[in-house]
Amino acid sequence: MNIIFLGPPGAGKGTQAQKICDALNIPQISTGDILRRAMKEGTETGLKAKSYIDAGQLVPDGVIIDIVKERLAMADCAGGYILDGFPRTVPQAEALDTFATIDSVIELDVADQVLVDRLSGRRVCLKCGATYHLSMLNGETRCAKCGEELIQRNDDKAETVLNRLEVYHAQTAPLIGYYEKKGLLKKVDGAQGLDLTFAAIMKALGAEA
Ligand code: AP5
Ligand code: MG
Repeated sequence: MNIIFLGPPGAGKGTQAQKICDALNIPQISTGDILRRAMKEGTETGLKAKSYIDAGQLVPDGVIIDIVKERLAMADCAGGYILDGFPRTVPQAEALDTFATIDSVIELDVADQVLVDRLSGRRVCLKCGATYHLSMLNGETRCAKCGEELIQRNDDKAETVLNRLEVYHAQTAPLIGYYEKKGLLKKVDGAQGLDLTFAAIMKALGAEA
């Protein structure tokens, strides 16, 4: 099953994509994680992406489309995947239509005021991509999955978060209508607890929870 997770920053795309990918045994393709790793390694793509990401803007379509096209051609994607954070613009969605067939689009719906709180308390592991919230860490500073030191993302500063929300509403939200027209969109309430959201996504996908 080829799945897209759509939703504003902080909606829980990364958190739920990891859980659903584990359950369905398919890879999670997070363009944000790919770009952050490229920045950490100082590659050409990483250097290009950094100023956009730090400002809460989208990186240019041309940069990201080629990365996703190459990634989806890899062997581990043959049995399905979750796209987490791609497409983010109508031109990205149109490009995706030329090299992939999507079965389902899950829209995670969460109100803006909840998103700001979630992002300001988020801590992430750059090594394995695990995501936490300060409220669940009890002072722990290392990743429970791989032991790496957890960090706060640069773009989780309050003023950047507001930019990212604006960018989402202006450039990414039009994709809701794009996929609705194709009959692929399934809206899930992402403001529920982690387990209820997980169960609702599995149900929307027609998979056993
Ligand atoms: P990206 O990394 O994709 O960021 P994003 O879309 O802004 O989304 P987030 O990762 O911030 O949120 P999420 O929905 O994954 O939430 P999470 O699960 O972490 O992109 C970063 C940047 O890269 C972009 O701004 C752009 O510059 C660039 N980029 C990436 N893709 C691109 C593209 N296709 N085109 C152009 N540019 C691109 O959860 C958030 C927090 O909430 C966590 O602390 C979590 O623990 C908590 N939480 C999650 N679910 C729940 C729940 N149910 N209840 C309570 N807390 C919860
Ligand atoms: Mg994410």
